[in-house]
Amino acid sequence: MNINREQAIELLHEYVKTEHIITHSYAVEAVMRALAKKLAPEDVELWGIAGLLHDLDEDVCGWREDMSKHGPMTVDILKERGLGNQQLYDAILAHNPENGKKASNQFETALYAADPMSGFINAIALGHTDKKLASVKVKSIVKRMKETRFAAGANREAMWSIEHVGVEFTEFAELALESMNEISEVLGL
Ligand SMILES: [Fe+2]
Repeated sequence: MNINREQAIELLHEYVKTEHIITHSYAVEAVMRALAKKLAPEDVELWGIAGLLHDLDEDVCGWREDMSKHGPMTVDILKERGLGNQQLYDAILAHNPENGKKASNQFETALYAADPMSGFINAIALGHTDKKLASVKVKSIVKRMKETRFAAGANREAMWSIEHVGVEFTEFAELALESMNEISEVLGL
């Protein structure tokens, strides 16, 4: 791959100024690295970079007016700079099916599922009095999945889709929580 983690972080800070999107990007990176260790150990860097860059265009693409722009614009930015490869572009596109690309392999599905999972765990942590990831239990992640009004923006279908690529939901919740816990200071949780 022609982009490394440092370059991805530099790009992230160049394009994204909204603090919570930056921390979200680090959270998705952590979950993606954990998933890669299980599903594609040779691609840990690539999967992590996809997590870091998947929302690169969030501040600049005008998705509030047109959801289909979120994803393709990131791919344009990367291509302009000669960074990334088709696998990375496809995963970034597929995390937002509104642009027409559906997740169709392990890597794409992992990003599609990791994105809402990180936000979902974040929301559960904020529900605790101490607002700490350390207070979040895997059991409550599983339980709250059924409470459709809780963190309604976290796409349940996307999170469940991890089971299509051979990871049981409970294991997914466990590794996502653990990986976010490891960077709790970065996430401020
Ligand atoms: Fe995201």
